[in-house]
Amino acid sequence: MRIMQTKVIKIGENDANIREKLLEPANIIKNGGLVVFPTETVYGLGADGTNSVASAKIYAAKGRPSDNPLIIHIANPSDAEEYAYTCDIYYRLAQAFMPGPLTVVLKARDSVPKETRGGLDTVAVRCPVNIVAHELISLAGVPIAAPSANISGSPSPTSVQHVIDDMKGRVDVIIDGGDCDFGLESTIVKINGDDTVTMLRPGKITVSDIEVLGIKVNIAAAVTSQLGKDEVALSPGMKYRHYAPKSDVILLDGEPNLALDYIRSSSHGNIAIIAYSEDLHIFSKLEGARLYDFGPQLDELSQAHRLFAILREVDKEDYEIIYAPLPKQQGIGLALYNRMIRAAAYKIIRL
Ligand code: TXA
Ligand code: MG
Repeated sequence: MRIMQTKVIKIGENDANIREKLLEPANIIKNGGLVVFPTETVYGLGADGTNSVASAKIYAAKGRPSDNPLIIHIANPSDAEEYAYTCDIYYRLAQAFMPGPLTVVLKARDSVPKETRGGLDTVAVRCPVNIVAHELISLAGVPIAAPSANISGSPSPTSVQHVIDDMKGRVDVIIDGGDCDFGLESTIVKINGDDTVTMLRPGKITVSDIEVLGIKVNIAAAVTSQLGKDEVALSPGMKYRHYAPKSDVILLDGEPNLALDYIRSSSHGNIAIIAYSEDLHIFSKLEGARLYDFGPQLDELSQAHRLFAILREVDKEDYEIIYAPLPKQQGIGLALYNRMIRAAAYKIIRL
């Protein structure tokens, strides 16, 4: 890939002159360039979603397979009309969760080039609440196609340093908007014909958040288990190897004292332990183990906020094994569970 000059522009959500600072990045989007921008979930690598050449540049910059479709980011829920066939359920979801960290898969209109949708007849639509993202989309005047702004195979970036590490020299502009609020990617649901939805990826908007609206949620099997060899992925992203650190990750399902015994009896080398804040003192009894604070056990927002940064940190070292707790599959825990079983390549020890 040709090395590009990448300009970094700092824009805080509370800045007075956000629109002014966004004029240049918005023009770059309009002219087919690449702009990394902050959202409430993770940083996105954006380009004009109606421009097939610009979309192709995204795949090249990320090193992403071209059949893995992109989410288009819109400024207002009703903007989806131009790019997709909406329905009653879409507007019920939009009313409750947009702008916000929800992506809805709808039948696509021809206005979305097949490069953007990875050749599918559907398109994923999201309306971010982050003000910098919102203003950028609105100023660009086009839907912004954007996957997470990581090199394929790295965790999604949640800080500008992560973005710089992965994308400097590959994009025109990086907008530094500080750390992302939530820290895991958006919840993705696909609307079925029978007034139910299928959750393709769990996130901050939970199953029960949607079910209180009277909409039944099926959870795609691949959310909680490994896709079988011959199974067809509902979402192309499910079939690709997902991020896992180069060291083995093992998830321990049980009380911290049992985890301590297990680790003591099974490993002696250079190990890392990702532990809930209140359990750190227990694991500090293990000489030589590096501890990473995952946040308080009941504070799943804090865990979501830290997870990808911790995974990037542990990956800088050469650990023999990385141990981490197995999250519950309820609420936001389901999003943590989904990302962590992939990072652990499905290795779970029941204590
Ligand atoms: O929070 C997010 O959603 C972030 C920010 C930047 O908005 N974006 C993001 O995009 O996570 P990406 O490309 O890294 O993940 C999108 C996932 C992929 O697994 C892709 O396969 C799936 O959504 N996807 C996109 N379009 C789809 C479609 N039409 N049908 C099913 N799955 C789709
Ligand atoms: Mg991604």
